[in-house]
Formats: sequence, structure tokens, C-alpha cells
Amino acid sequence: MMKKIVVLVSGGGTNLQALINAQQAGELGNGKITCVISSKADAYALTRAAEAGIKTRTLIRKDYSDIASYSIAMRDALTQEGADLVVYAGFMTILDENVCDAFKNKMINVHPALIPSFCGKGFYGLYVHQAALEKGVKVSGATVHFVTAECDAGPIILQKAVEVMEGDTPELLQKRIMEQAEWKILPQAVKLFCDDKITVKDGKTIIK
Ligand code: GAR
Repeated sequence: MMKKIVVLVSGGGTNLQALINAQQAGELGNGKITCVISSKADAYALTRAAEAGIKTRTLIRKDYSDIASYSIAMRDALTQEGADLVVYAGFMTILDENVCDAFKNKMINVHPALIPSFCGKGFYGLYVHQAALEKGVKVSGATVHFVTAECDAGPIILQKAVEVMEGDTPELLQKRIMEQAEWKILPQAVKLFCDDKITVKDGKTIIK
């Protein structure tokens, strides 16, 4: 059975691009990206989706007064799209239980650090890498996990470590983590999900 994948974006969309590339290479298993939804009107990710012939929608965060009303609108959009899997690919809004309960164990996020390090509210984009460099860790990486109402706390699906190098800036570390980890493990996790290879038990995942 084909699984409909809806990808949520807010920015440049390099993780979306990795998913599009994987799909074009036949590497998403039973999954197909059927819609991309952006929280920002000017996200370059929307151009990437359009160029790949994928339907786009915008659901602008600023148009909603609070996270509850935005979450309800997002839940309705995802239901309309018939999403079997929702992928946060650089999606910078924390949605509440209105979405997380409706799509329990059907939403995954890529986070640019090894959870539980450098995660939670305020840790997004370059701030994550800035914090890792300030701490002086020698290894960072990326994590793909299921989304729950608690930010970055859901069951972990895949992780990949990446070395921190002398002279790294947040930008350099971000680029290395994207290239060596995020763009690999996000499509891998999507394929595992679409091929029904992931189960969740006691807050942990088991990969078949
Ligand atoms: C990526 O590094 C992603 O892991 C991170 O933002 C970047 C988005 O890049 N996401 C978060 O920090 C979410 N908490 P992209 O738009 O090029 O995929």
C-alpha cells in the first residue's frame, strides 16, 4: 500500500531536497511525497517542491494568534491531505497535542544533534550548533525521532554521529552534520516507516 507523505517546512529545505532525491532514486519504499506545507510564505523549500512537481500549501504561523489554533488548522490540513506520515524537515514550530495525538507515531522530525543533548525549546537551527561548540563536545550528529507534544522528546528512530573539528563555526558544523548525517538518516527513517519496519514499545522504537 502506497503511503502518503506530507512534509512540513519553514526554511531552505535541504532536508526536503534529500527526501525528493531519495524518492527520485526509488529509495522511499512504499512512500510518496504528496504535499509540502510551509509555515513561512517565503521558504525556499516551496520552490524545491514546485520544481519537483509536488503540491505545495502554506499555513502561515503568523496568521494565527496562538499555537492551539495553529495546531488545529494544521491537523485539519493534514487530515485533508490524507497524510499517512508527516515529516518535519526544518519545520520550526512546536505543534501541540491537537496534532500530536491525532497523528501519534505518524510524525517524525530530524534534529541536528544527538538527543538528549542540545534539544528542546530554543534549540533549533544554528543555535543547536552554537551550543554544541560552546560546550566543547567532540562529537555531535543528528537524530530522527517520533514527534510528541514534548519538544524533541519522542521515541528515537535513528541517530548518526559526526565529528566536531578544530576551528568549526556553527555554520561549518551545521553543514557537516547535514551532509554526513541528516540527509542520510532522514530518508532512511522515512523508508523504514513506509515499509512498516518501525514499532514503538515503552517509549522506544524497535527496528525490524
Ligand atoms: C536542519 O539542520 C534541521 O535539522 C534543523 O534546521 C535545519 C533546517 O534546514 N531543524 C531544527 O533545528 C528543528 N528543531 P533545511 O530547511 O535546509 O532542511
